[in-house]
Amino acid sequence: QMLEMELDTIEKGGYDHFMIKEIFEQPRSIADSMRGRLRAADLHLQLGGLDSYLDKLACAERIIIVGCGTSWHAGLVAEYLFEELARINVEVEYASEFRYRNPVIRENDMVIAISQSGETADTLAAIELAKSRGASIFGVCNVVGSSIARATHAGAYTHAGPEIGVASTKAFTAQVTVLTLIAIAVARKKNTITEESYRQLLTALEAMPGKVEKVFEHASRIKEIAYIFTYARNFIYLGRGLNFPVALEGALKLKEISYIHAEGYPAAEMKHGPIALIDEDMPVVFLATRDSSYEKIVSNIQEVKARKGRVIAIVTEGDTLIPEMVDFVIEVPEVHESLTPLVSVIPLQLLSYYIAVMRGRNVDQPRNLAKSVTVE
Ligand code: G6P
Repeated sequence: QMLEMELDTIEKGGYDHFMIKEIFEQPRSIADSMRGRLRAADLHLQLGGLDSYLDKLACAERIIIVGCGTSWHAGLVAEYLFEELARINVEVEYASEFRYRNPVIRENDMVIAISQSGETADTLAAIELAKSRGASIFGVCNVVGSSIARATHAGAYTHAGPEIGVASTKAFTAQVTVLTLIAIAVARKKNTITEESYRQLLTALEAMPGKVEKVFEHASRIKEIAYIFTYARNFIYLGRGLNFPVALEGALKLKEISYIHAEGYPAAEMKHGPIALIDEDMPVVFLATRDSSYEKIVSNIQEVKARKGRVIAIVTEGDTLIPEMVDFVIEVPEVHESLTPLVSVIPLQLLSYYIAVMRGRNVDQPRNLAKSVTVE
């Protein structure tokens, strides 16, 4: 028994749970997901598995992304990036819906399947369906040699290392990193970004591990906020643009491990329903980093404050306007706008982790959930 306990502590690297260990591992896992693929100094960007499919992606009329859970959220981030950088029309589909429809798949469509475990039954079935219709499938998986990695025509591993906590953290940021690399490579190939923006993106990517590290400086503040909201019954997460999928992911993390009801929404959709829920008992987490939708988010915050909602805002370091308006702020460092999700998701992972711990939940193995869902 003693030995078992010791082994457990060693495996967790001195942390209380795998989830918090994996959250803190992200500077390294993000670096690992770029290792050997990116060198900003000489404008080098190459993913081995992509070589033979780069032309196909560059010519694709449409990219269909399939995945489940957190992987589906990474797909939503990729949708914005492929559209913005590479000017490709993207559809992101829940694998479970896609597989039972009669989806239109054309010869020039490219399918990207995203999966941490590489074993999710619905995603695997979606791949088989797309394959049977003649589509080319590119996989973004974490587990080497997994079923999905084998079923796809080509792919790029995320190299985040084993993820044990059921709630996905470092796998998500590695997926987003790899999908960003792919979007940039395709954009460069298609000439939809200038050499200057290409250079800026590569340089900004190399700086990401350090930026994520800086978010951890605020961990104790996030813990204090978690303490205040431990017994909240509901949460709303709002974001726009690239921060919209982050809002969904933040809400999912909270649901999964703390069992608090949480919803993520595009901030502008709030007026079409969720605003009716706002009162002094409703905590609202705003993704309010300084980007192209900043002004719009500021007015959304005002709408919530006018209805006495309690606001926690994720803001860019040095923001002086939003801290005046809201109840709590958590700062993240300034990054290239296209890379925002990689920093803005970190405080949300920590917030849900600390709330779940304070509620005494089984963080690494939440009730009713499985790390990989290999049956329907
Ligand atoms: C399960 C896990 C989630 C994960 C989802 C998709 O629901 O609990 O954390 O996001 O499956 O898994 P995959 O391995 O395909 O990314």
